[in-house]
Amino acid sequence: MTEDPFREFAAYYDRMIQEEPDRVEFFRTLFRKHGVKSVLDCACGTGNDLIMVHNFGLQVCGSDISKAMLAQARKTLTKHQIEIPLKHLDFRELPQHYDQRFEAVLCLTTSLPQLLEEREIGKALKSMREVLKPKGILVLTQGLTDVQLKTHVRFAPAVNTPEFSRIMVVDYYHEEYEVNVLDLGHTQDNDEFDVYGVRYRILLRDDYERLLRKTGYSRIEFYGDWNFKRYDKEESELLIVVAHR
Ligand SMILES: C[S@@+](CC[C@H](N)C(=O)[O-])C[C@H]1O[C@@H](n2cnc3c(N)ncnc32)[C@H](O)[C@@H]1O
Repeated sequence: MTEDPFREFAAYYDRMIQEEPDRVEFFRTLFRKHGVKSVLDCACGTGNDLIMVHNFGLQVCGSDISKAMLAQARKTLTKHQIEIPLKHLDFRELPQHYDQRFEAVLCLTTSLPQLLEEREIGKALKSMREVLKPKGILVLTQGLTDVQLKTHVRFAPAVNTPEFSRIMVVDYYHEEYEVNVLDLGHTQDNDEFDVYGVRYRILLRDDYERLLRKTGYSRIEFYGDWNFKRYDKEESELLIVVAHR
C-alpha cells in the first residue's frame, strides 16, 4: 500500500462505531463453538474488536498496516486500561512476524479487499492460513453483497445526529469500487465538511470461495447476518465468511 487511505480518517473512524449486541453474540458463539482461546485481528484498525475479544476472556493480538489506525487503537486501549500487543505490519507477511499460532484470525469490515489485485489477496489468505492452528478459523466480513452490487446502492447514511452526519457514497467501477465518506458537522464548534475515500476490489461470495479453496482452506461457511442466517445472494446485506484452515 503506497498511501494510507486512513491517515486523515483514522481520528474520526470511530464516529460510526455503534453498539451491536448481535455482532458481539455472533463472535462469542462462533469462538465457543470452535474452542477458540487465542485470536489475531490482523486488520485491527482502531482496536474495537480487540477489546471485544479481550472481554470474552481470550488471548488477543492486533496488527494493522496503518500507523494512524494503530495510533487510535493505542489510545483506545490506554483509555480502557487494557494491554494488548500491537504490531505495525502488512497482513501478507504475518508468519514472518508471529511465531505463535492462533485458533482464529480476524480480518473484518472490508479489510482484505483493500488489496486490489487477486494475486496479492491470494498472498494475504495464505499468510493468514499459516498463522492458524490446524483446526483454526479465518473470519472475514464486508458490507458489499451480491444484492448491493446488482442494485448499485450508492448512498448510505452511516450517522445522522443533531451534531454530525456521515454519508457513504459509493462509486462502482469494473473490478473495483470506491467508498467516499462525507462528514458534515452541524455545530458552531464543528461546521466542517470532510471527505475521505477508500478504494476496494469487488469480491463477492463466489470470489471468496474460489480464492480460499485455491489457497488451501477446507470448509467454508457464508452467513448473511449476525444470527448465522445463511448468505443469500438475493437478499443478504452483509457477507460473513468463516473459512477453516
Ligand atoms: C475499514 S478498516 C476496518 C478496521 C477494523 N477491522 C474494523 O472492523 O473496524 C480496514 C483496515 O484494514 C487495514 N488494512 C488494509 N490493508 C492492510 C494490509 N495489507 N495489512 C494490514 N492491514 C491492512 C487498514 O489499515 C484498516 O485499518
